[in-house]
Amino acid sequence: MSLFAVFGNPIAHSKSPAIHQQFAQQAGIAIDYQKRLAPLEDFVGAVANFRADGGLGANVTVPFKTQAFTLASELTDRAKRSGTVNTLKWLSEVDGWLGDNTDGAGLCRDITENLGWSLAGARVLLLGAGGAMQGVLPVLSDYSGIELVIANRTCSKAQDLAQSYENLRACELEQLAHEAPFDVIINGTSAGLFGEALALPETVFHADSHLTKVYDMVYGKELTPFLQWAQAQGATVSDGLGMLVEQAAESFELWTGFRPETSTVKGILLDQIVGST
Ligand code: ATR
Repeated sequence: MSLFAVFGNPIAHSKSPAIHQQFAQQAGIAIDYQKRLAPLEDFVGAVANFRADGGLGANVTVPFKTQAFTLASELTDRAKRSGTVNTLKWLSEVDGWLGDNTDGAGLCRDITENLGWSLAGARVLLLGAGGAMQGVLPVLSDYSGIELVIANRTCSKAQDLAQSYENLRACELEQLAHEAPFDVIINGTSAGLFGEALALPETVFHADSHLTKVYDMVYGKELTPFLQWAQAQGATVSDGLGMLVEQAAESFELWTGFRPETSTVKGILLDQIVGST
């Protein structure tokens, strides 16, 4: 049976095994997909053990995405540009790992295909400048005519990221009130994980506020405080459950060549999340 895993610390909460088992069922193959808790100080050793066990591919989550980037012998273009890796695939011909980052493709597929929101030519506000945002920028910035504005609590981090992309401009959070309204707002901060809201001026929304679409990369049983606030302003909102499933589908395709169908898998996950206590 082909061996796969997700590495993180912590990892107990991960939904990746359940998602990939659904994909394997669709593909008609049997896989062993494990959660592997990597020690904070020895990610490289944990991956070496996995390979010794016959591991063929892995997902990598917080806090190891930069270490996975360093560990990879080869990188896809989008991983190279982002400086982070969330997917490893064993390449026997080079006796090393290929590093990819499927987060950006997962986010953009959920936004454009599942939700039907347009990114080409859109004015997009990005909130946060940590690993999550870093990972999705190469794919986001490739949309034709997209205008990206990035704001972060620590503005210098947003300014650093802005230097790598021609169509990305940093803006201080306090200066957002002077910006024209946005078509799409993407929250890539971890504030929602701690139940914290982000204070933004209402001017980030179009006068007809439902024309502004707001996405939070975080998901949970309830909408994040940020999405609750945006919804109360009349904006159209979505959490990041679809991104989670889509980035997984992209990884599964890289490993197996099989493109899974995602909507039923998202439905099953949603039932589990809503039904959980
Ligand atoms: P991740 O890998 O999830 O992106 P990270 O690299 O630690 O995690 O980045 C977390 C992001 O959320 C950062 O942009 C952080 O802002 P700072 O760079 O100023 O630390 C942002 N963040 C976390 N909590 C926040 C809060 N309560 N309000 C605003 N931004 C917050």
